[in-house]
Order: sequence, then structure tokens, then C-alpha cells
Amino acid sequence: MEKIIELKNVYKYYKMGEKRVTALKDIDLDIYKGEIVVILGPSGSGKTTLLNVCSGLDIVSKGKIIFDGKNITKYSDRRLTLFRKKNHGFIFQTYNLLENLNVYENVLVGANLSHSKEDIDKIIKTVGLTSHKKKYMYELSGGEQQRVSIARALAKNPKVMFCDEPTGALDEKTGKKVLDALVKANEKIGTTIIVVTHNPGIALIGDRIIKMNSGTIIDIFENKKRIPAKDIPWG
Ligand SMILES: Nc1ncnc2c1ncn2[C@@H]1O[C@H](COP(=O)(O)OP(=O)(O)OP(=O)(O)O)[C@@H](O)[C@H]1O
Ligand SMILES: [Mg+2]
Repeated sequence: MEKIIELKNVYKYYKMGEKRVTALKDIDLDIYKGEIVVILGPSGSGKTTLLNVCSGLDIVSKGKIIFDGKNITKYSDRRLTLFRKKNHGFIFQTYNLLENLNVYENVLVGANLSHSKEDIDKIIKTVGLTSHKKKYMYELSGGEQQRVSIARALAKNPKVMFCDEPTGALDEKTGKKVLDALVKANEKIGTTIIVVTHNPGIALIGDRIIKMNSGTIIDIFENKKRIPAKDIPWG
């Protein structure tokens, strides 16, 4: 399998006044093209930090990050910003959508120039929002809004989708629909997906589960058979 992200001996320190917090400690990790990876672990274990150094939202203190064969470790802020824009989709707990635009227009905002109207419609269908295409954000539930943000991220053909607690603000039913939209994006478009979560049940939608504790990877499991989002146990 082809690697899309490689972390080599990665450390991340944060300064807290006089103190130094070690958020990541000697991480070696490969992410492969087309997989769904779920990062699990207790609060403060370094999940967000790991995701952010993988995506180039944050830089490492020590070690190396290779993305699709390119060493991005020493990229400047400006170069990293352009790089993320070109290659990555981001999904956070909050949706960051444009309130005065409808679903279609929000997705269009994320689209790269080569997309036709049909492409946008296809993406909206992938996340299951075709019947909501003309609605404004205040007319949608939290889970539907999160699916708009997934569609918007997909519209730029990202190589990887980085998702930090994408269902953190959602209940079971809507949360599962959001996860299903992510899995569909993976199945239909082949997007590599990394999901950070507290919720162990969510791990079952993926191919590999990375367990973190105190800034280190304590275990990596292979999940031989993905479970459909609607069937996973919730919290
Ligand atoms: N900007 C920062 N400045 C200082 N310390 C930080 C910063 N960001 C994170 N940390 C510390 O690094 C460690 C890892 O934080 P991180 O946010 O990666 O954890 P997490 O696993 O995502 O937690 P949660 O589940 O609560 O989101 C924690 O001890 C945290 O306090
Ligand atoms: Mg976090």
C-alpha cells in the first residue's frame, strides 16, 4: 500500500510559562492512501496535536513529516498554508459555514475551479443532502450542517480529510449520519480519512485504530471488517 503521510520520531512540546508540556513523544506512524484511520484516547492524550502535525496545521518540535513523498517539516507558515489549501480537507466539531448562503452555495465556496454543476450535485448527493440543496444553514440540524461542511471540504478534492471530533456536538442519530457521509466519501471518491474521537464505538467504521495515551501511541489495531456507521455502538 502507498503511504500518504509518514511521521518519523516526532515530538511536540508546548511552552506553558516556565514549564514544557510534551504533547507528542517519539511518534512513528504511516498513514496509507485510501484508508480510514481513527485516533482514540482520553482527553489530553495528544490526539488533536497528532492530527494537527499530520495536516501541517501545527509544526513539530523534533522529527519529520513526509506528505505524499514531500518533506513538509521545514515549510514556512506561508508555504504550509498554501499546501493545506491544496491538499487537505478539515472537519471540526463546529461547522464554520456561511449563514447567508444555501447548501449548494456553501459547497461551491469550497470547490476547485474544475468542478461543474454536476460535480457539486454529486458531492451533495454523497453526503445525503440532495433534498436540502436550497436550504439555508438556519434551516438545517447540526448533523446536516456538519454534512454540508464535509461536502464543502470534498469539493476541493482533498487528498486527506482531517476530522477532529466531527460528531462531538451531535447526538447518536445525527452523528451516525455524519460518519456515514465520511465513509461514503472514502468509498466513492477514495479520500483518505483520519478521525479523532473520544468515542470508542466510532473506531469500528475504520480500517485502523490508533490508541493514544500521554503523547504516545500505545496500540494500533487493524479492523478487518468495517462496521456501517448506523450499526456501531454509541458512547
Ligand atoms: N497550545 C497549547 N499550549 C500548551 N499546551 C497545549 C496546547 N495544546 C495542547 N496542549 C497540551 O498538550 C497535551 C495534548 O493536547 P491535545 O489537545 O492534543 O489533547 P487531546 O487528546 O486532543 O484532548 P481532547 O480529547 O481533550 O481534545 C495536553 O496536555 C494539552 O494540555
Ligand atoms: Mg482534541
